[in-house]
Amino acid sequence: MSNLWRVTTDKVSREKENIMRTGNIYQIANGYMGYRGTLDEFGPDELVGITLAGIYDRVGDAWREPVNAPNGGFTKVTLDGKDISALATRIKKHRQSLNLANAVFERETDFKSRGKILKIKSTRFLSADQPNSGAIKYSLTVDKAARVRIHTGIDYNIWDLNGPHLLKLTAKIQNGILLVQGITGETAKKVAVAEAIDLDFGSETQETRGNKNLRVIKLDAEANKTYTFYKYFAVYTENDPVKTSVEEAAIKKVQEAKGCGYDECLNRHNAQWAKKWDYCDVTIEGDDDAQQALRYSLFQLLIAAPIQGSANSIPARALSGQVYKGAIFWDTEMFMFPFFLYTCPGKAVELLRYRIKTLEGARRKAKTEGTGYRGAFYAWESQESGDDACTYFNIGDPLTKRNLRTHFRDKQVHISGDVAIAMWEYFKITGDDSLLLEGGAEVILECARFYYSYAYFKKDKNRYEILDVVGPDEYHERVNNNAFTSMVAKTTFEIANATVNYLKQKYPGRFKALAKKIDIAGELPLFVEAADLLYVPPPDEKTGVIEQFDAYYQLKETTIEALKAGMVHPDEYLGAGQGLAVPTRVIKQADVVMMLNQFKDRYSDKIKKANWEYYEPRTEHGSSLSACAYAMVAADIGKLDRAYRYFLQTAKIDIEARYKTYVGTIFIGGSHPAANGGAWMTAVLGFGGVKANAEEVAINPKLYKKWKALRFKLAYKGDRFSVRITQKDVAIVPDALNKSDHAFRVAGQSIVCRPGKLSFVKYR
Ligand code: BGC
Repeated sequence: MSNLWRVTTDKVSREKENIMRTGNIYQIANGYMGYRGTLDEFGPDELVGITLAGIYDRVGDAWREPVNAPNGGFTKVTLDGKDISALATRIKKHRQSLNLANAVFERETDFKSRGKILKIKSTRFLSADQPNSGAIKYSLTVDKAARVRIHTGIDYNIWDLNGPHLLKLTAKIQNGILLVQGITGETAKKVAVAEAIDLDFGSETQETRGNKNLRVIKLDAEANKTYTFYKYFAVYTENDPVKTSVEEAAIKKVQEAKGCGYDECLNRHNAQWAKKWDYCDVTIEGDDDAQQALRYSLFQLLIAAPIQGSANSIPARALSGQVYKGAIFWDTEMFMFPFFLYTCPGKAVELLRYRIKTLEGARRKAKTEGTGYRGAFYAWESQESGDDACTYFNIGDPLTKRNLRTHFRDKQVHISGDVAIAMWEYFKITGDDSLLLEGGAEVILECARFYYSYAYFKKDKNRYEILDVVGPDEYHERVNNNAFTSMVAKTTFEIANATVNYLKQKYPGRFKALAKKIDIAGELPLFVEAADLLYVPPPDEKTGVIEQFDAYYQLKETTIEALKAGMVHPDEYLGAGQGLAVPTRVIKQADVVMMLNQFKDRYSDKIKKANWEYYEPRTEHGSSLSACAYAMVAADIGKLDRAYRYFLQTAKIDIEARYKTYVGTIFIGGSHPAANGGAWMTAVLGFGGVKANAEEVAINPKLYKKWKALRFKLAYKGDRFSVRITQKDVAIVPDALNKSDHAFRVAGQSIVCRPGKLSFVKYR
């Protein structure tokens, strides 16, 4: 297999910062849990983390964050009485790799200790077939006979940022299965981890020592003989729909896995992975560098995708740890969702179900935030209930150590519209209205209701305005008429009106029941008016530039370099309070440009170009969400070299692990699924020029010159397509099993794509 499917290093990370970054790069996950790319013998100091999706806990008044499970993958070896560890033992050779085809992590290390060489090889995966479980194959070989002790089992020394979250931890062994159980402090949810082993050498005893529930395997190892054993572990929490106790469920799962055997478990896991890639892989012919970065980005999205039926979503740092409170931001709807929508809509459904599930939390937030609003004000940082995990003092100042008042939570109101837009996109692109009926329409109407209660009507100007907000650019808080936010709100009203019309026509009974349930009939004419009269700052008649918010032009003009030269601490936050960017035109991330991408049909290329050129030098890209917006608009307007540079920036962020790890005093190291989603969007929607709506799929290729061809898959209206774009033509192969014909428009040329029939269009 070529290295385009594998990420490998022969470097051993010993220093904490490197261990952290390597742990991110080599992480595996299966939607249920993540397992950082740490080595078998590592512990909490090396940031071993098995982060669980959708279960959170809070200790005192520290940040609420996801729960990390005890590590059922722990193994440490002693050789002739000496501890062997990549941290301290001499290493002759090391190699660790991540197979992107099936999310299998592998390490091989040759240690030298007391004149002997010990080779360790271990391979692990978190099952994509049985999401509560994982398996490890562990082998060791010595070059000279040696006394070996293997300590393997469950390590319940847990790395937490704001823990401990698991209390009353207990350990036991039952019928040869190790078990560790704990209970979360805040909501008293049980979490159980079981471990079973398949071993045919040595003698085994059990011991519980130093918060480790271990098997000790004594082995007089012969020279050059390889000893292999298999470990199976399972995690269950009371969030899981189990009929028995979590303990019994975990035990049963490892017994099943052991019964099935490592190879068969791996086969089943691989079969799931083959399907995932079959739906979504993108091939860039002629550019291996971009190919690998893009594939790695897609891999990150695939491992983080929630499991079927969980109604979980994807946190801003996915399952790479507890950073950002494991919270779900607008990152999901605006940056990750399109990938799932266009490749595996089943996962897109899960992300939307999460917003339906948390609608009550959004309603609570609307009522209690500020002077109180109506409708649904979604959490800026959302956890399992939809209540906001974002605090009013969300960033620590590294200089004064004081927490800075930020307005992400109370003023970044575009979040509700971002959710409504995703809900509607799903309906348009899949043609599936079941989600609308299952709560999606209610979400949309409640978001519109929220904006109506947030907006002001200016009688003299005969327009609605959205005032006192934070747009995507978080360095400028409490601004009026932020173009992005106002456009999102306007669109939400339009979507609400379209939803009403659709339901009234197709499901009049259901519509009546919903209108009654949320008592909204009297407000609907207001939504129609607001869609029409809501003010969105227009492009300047002469320059074409859209002012990001009222009086932005009155801010000081400076350069990013000059601004940064004034920093007195490397982690200093540039926004909030006295932040250096606050009085200037330097912005944190794409804002107007984000709008021009999101609403690309509403603006001409000329306007896009004027704004891209105006804002680009003023954008600090202090958020990993920024580069892809600049990449996509650049592709849209034909600035392909710039698009390509921004594309690589977004696509490489995690594979190269080059990112900030602190903002203020907050640790933010982890993976960046929004940037990963941005990589897919730039490749397929940007360079591929794909834009679908309810009527057709348009493809207007903007292929980068270095690329011989771009191949990708698309899901549209319940059917599937393979597309290949070269510098000259576009080939579309609808799946033979497709149910219908579909309208495509390639470079302006309308075609009908019939099941199994190739369509070929020359565009240059
Ligand atoms: C960005 C937000 C983003 C959040 C989580 C912040 O730095 O400004 O737009 O939602 O990080 O990724």
